[in-house]
Amino acid sequence: MPDRWPALLQSGDVHVRFCVSDACDGAPLEALAADLSPDERDRAARFVFHRDRRDYTVAHAMLRRVLSCYHPVEPRAWQFETAPGGKPTLSEPFARESGLSFNLSHTTGLVACAVTRGDDVGVDVESLDRAARARELAQRYFAPAEAKALGAMGAEPCRQRFIEIWTLKEAYVKALGTGLATMLSQCAFLDAGSGLRFVPDNSSQAAAWRFWLMAPEPRRRLAVAMRARQAREPELRAWVWHPTLQSEDGAPDLLSPVFPVVSTPS
Ligand SMILES: CC(C)(COP(=O)(O)OP(=O)(O)OC[C@H]1O[C@@H](n2cnc3c(N)ncnc32)[C@H](O)[C@@H]1OP(=O)(O)O)[C@@H](O)C(=O)NCCC(=O)NCCS
Repeated sequence: MPDRWPALLQSGDVHVRFCVSDACDGAPLEALAADLSPDERDRAARFVFHRDRRDYTVAHAMLRRVLSCYHPVEPRAWQFETAPGGKPTLSEPFARESGLSFNLSHTTGLVACAVTRGDDVGVDVESLDRAARARELAQRYFAPAEAKALGAMGAEPCRQRFIEIWTLKEAYVKALGTGLATMLSQCAFLDAGSGLRFVPDNSSQAAAWRFWLMAPEPRRRLAVAMRARQAREPELRAWVWHPTLQSEDGAPDLLSPVFPVVSTPS
């Protein structure tokens, strides 16, 4: 296991790995499956479509191997449990001893995970090609001001912006860990010059939230939400993860924000 990475993930920062899983098959996929727990292998086997089995396997093996970059535990030894809101977390003693928090996401052909030193984090990946019925879904799930802004856009910009806001909201919901219980129409991402401004629901601390929206591929979006506990500005680093990678090496891959997302108190 690499030993020089733990020092690089400071408390208050977030590290992201993402993998274009389309091409992962055969021996590399089998090697990843060998790192899964029996429960995870059972769950993978229950997927009807190969692509879903592949993405699940890549996501969970990647998560295990990435966690092992930050704490000296073999990838297949990590154990997980589910928090009351449904969010997967590390079981004890792994949570206490490693101090790590994580979240993962998969969409067909792309998986991602985010790791922090205990800061609440959520990640979501989506394809821009999924945005059928964007206006209708925005009316139903988004805040009125968001739906109005989307309604004023042309068809293609509306579809793209809808997925971008959806991805940010999913990342936020996943950082909170509350799942479907969160009222997504009570927070909003509103136009703010060249980017978006996060306007939270009353219960969350606006100033603490940080968001990043990136395009790992031209037609895909990756959003990260983190609740910062420190006064200094959090730093996000992102790497492309390769299934055949045995040890981490090299500088983070440049993944520029699609546009900035700022947080302001409600
Ligand atoms: C839990 C939820 C967030 C998953 O999101 P998704 O986009 O369907 O799927 P993703 O691939 O991004 O994430 C799935 C992973 O998130 C993790 N996850 C599951 N429940 C979670 C929760 N409550 N909180 C955080 N993470 C969760 C799991 O690791 C899961 O992967 P796994 O099943 O392979 O272990 C989703 O089911 C949900 O409740 N979404 C909110 C629904 C909604 O109204 N969205 C509208 C946005 S505008």
